[in-house]
Amino acid sequence: MKLTDKVIVVTGAGGGMGKAIVSQLLERGAFVVGIDLSVDSMNGIQQPNFVAKAADVLNEERVSEIFAEVHQEQGKIDGLVNALGIAQAQTPIEEVSLDQWHRLMNINATSLFITCKQAVKYMKPKNKGSIITIASISAVRPRPGLQSYIASKGAAESFSRAMAIELAPHSIRVNTIHPGPADTNMLGQFTGEKGDNSAMKNDVFKQSVPLGELIQPEDIASAVVYLLSDNARMVTGATLHVDGGRGL
Ligand SMILES: NC(=O)c1ccc[n+]([C@@H]2O[C@H](COP(=O)([O-])OP(=O)(O)OC[C@H]3O[C@@H](n4cnc5c(N)ncnc54)[C@H](O)[C@@H]3O)[C@@H](O)[C@H]2O)c1
Repeated sequence: MKLTDKVIVVTGAGGGMGKAIVSQLLERGAFVVGIDLSVDSMNGIQQPNFVAKAADVLNEERVSEIFAEVHQEQGKIDGLVNALGIAQAQTPIEEVSLDQWHRLMNINATSLFITCKQAVKYMKPKNKGSIITIASISAVRPRPGLQSYIASKGAAESFSRAMAIELAPHSIRVNTIHPGPADTNMLGQFTGEKGDNSAMKNDVFKQSVPLGELIQPEDIASAVVYLLSDNARMVTGATLHVDGGRGL
């Protein structure tokens, strides 16, 4: 599955999954523009076909500026991968503030509206494009105490399906990936842990995966490569579960 000469924007490019996605896209020959809150988080990715941009994706003006720059410099935008996100520490609804709800919905769902709108602006005139959103298996297989996060991921999936039908006449494909518990820094945040915590990962999350292992960022990256590639030319509005069976 080659991505030679495809120009692809990846949000959350400095995160656990984002870095693995960028790395596989570069290996397949793509030109990649990574967006994250700081350029520092993407410092490890040093390749001629990679450009790092700092932005809070909720800043529509800044995002618009970045897409315009990419289009001006590369002449096209073939793909968008929405791989940013924040977690919710397990909390009963009565202890969740409205501000916390809005923050999760804004970062995990409203950000998709902002980036998709920009991508579509440049994809429509070319009658071609592929948009992928990393949502979560929790959207369809919830856990207690994560109501705001889960609602934001349900919105992400519905929004992708809505975009898939709206953009099909323009040959723009829109798909979602639902990861199961994945081995990144985010995982511990769901239980309020900080950074890596192997014991917690083994006890709580690994056991919830029928295949018996945590999902690795590279597993998600492989699915992204497939959905971006021309091998998936007839796949749109789909949700690919990369969850070791957690959704069963
Ligand atoms: N790790 C898991 O277990 C898991 C499971 C299912 C789904 N997911 C989803 O996968 C995606 C990637 O998660 P991850 O595990 O790589 O997490 P991560 O915390 O390693 O990476 C997330 C990245 O998003 C960036 N980000 C957050 N808000 C931003 C904003 N407003 N603007 C720009 N960048 C922003 C962060 O700086 C970070 O680099 C997220 O959408 C997450 O919800 C993760």
